[in-house]
Amino acid sequence: MRRPLVVANWKMHKTVREALTYAEAFLPRAREIEGVDLALAPPFTALEPLSRALLGSPVAWAAQNVHAEPAGAFTGEVSAPMLAELGCAFAIVGHSERRRLFGESSGFVARKVAALVAAGIRPILCVGEQLEEREAGRAREVVERQLEESLPELPSGREDGLVVAYEPVWAIGTGRTATPALAAEAHGWVRAALRSRYGGAADRIRIQYGGSVKPENASALLAEPEIDGALVGGASLDPESFAAIAAAAVPQAASAGGRRPPPAGGASGQGRNQP
Ligand code: PGA
Repeated sequence: MRRPLVVANWKMHKTVREALTYAEAFLPRAREIEGVDLALAPPFTALEPLSRALLGSPVAWAAQNVHAEPAGAFTGEVSAPMLAELGCAFAIVGHSERRRLFGESSGFVARKVAALVAAGIRPILCVGEQLEEREAGRAREVVERQLEESLPELPSGREDGLVVAYEPVWAIGTGRTATPALAAEAHGWVRAALRSRYGGAADRIRIQYGGSVKPENASALLAEPEIDGALVGGASLDPESFAAIAAAAVPQAASAGGRRPPPAGGASGQGRNQP
């Protein structure tokens, strides 16, 4: 029912030249992957040149951050209308690195989500608990609070475009992945929270898993019915490894005993930079 979405979060890696070299290697592999929405999130400097390289391909592009205001005296920031002009399909907001290293509050994140939706860009809202919170048995409460505080009131009908990434902070960049069962349980919490907020529309919102996803663990994670894709950091920096992860998200035909029906198509990017 939900088309998987696999996104490469390059963080502060890759010059323009490196981004273009990556695209050259990745695109032939991406063209063989069916039934999965793919996006690359480069640093801002590479966004425009990469967007040209991806034009007409099955790969969308995403921003790693955005400011909540459309324009103004905010040195160093980039706004949603600026990204929309380039045909940006998705933007990551509320990543734990931004919350922790740049002091971003859930309230600020909620304003970013609203700005993105107003500009026609799909937010990828990241939530996830810290290790101490999990060990104290508070993971569900933390995730629910982040969702509650990071999601603004949205115009009705716009919820479907949301993407939530469940990223336990203790799994990000640590090599310590959540087990499929643990991730699935947390995705269930997210789904339940979205249902209580948006009703039936919540079933169309994609929930990605993020945190040390690698080619070796991707299939087991993505086989969970509640895991609708992956947000990949370190392992997305190499085109082959990212392609292997994306391939692991390909829906299995029902006859093969898989979990997903054949792709319905056209589920992402609002046609902006999607084929
Ligand atoms: P990682 O990062 O795959 O390197 O753990 C994931 C993320 O931060 O989105």
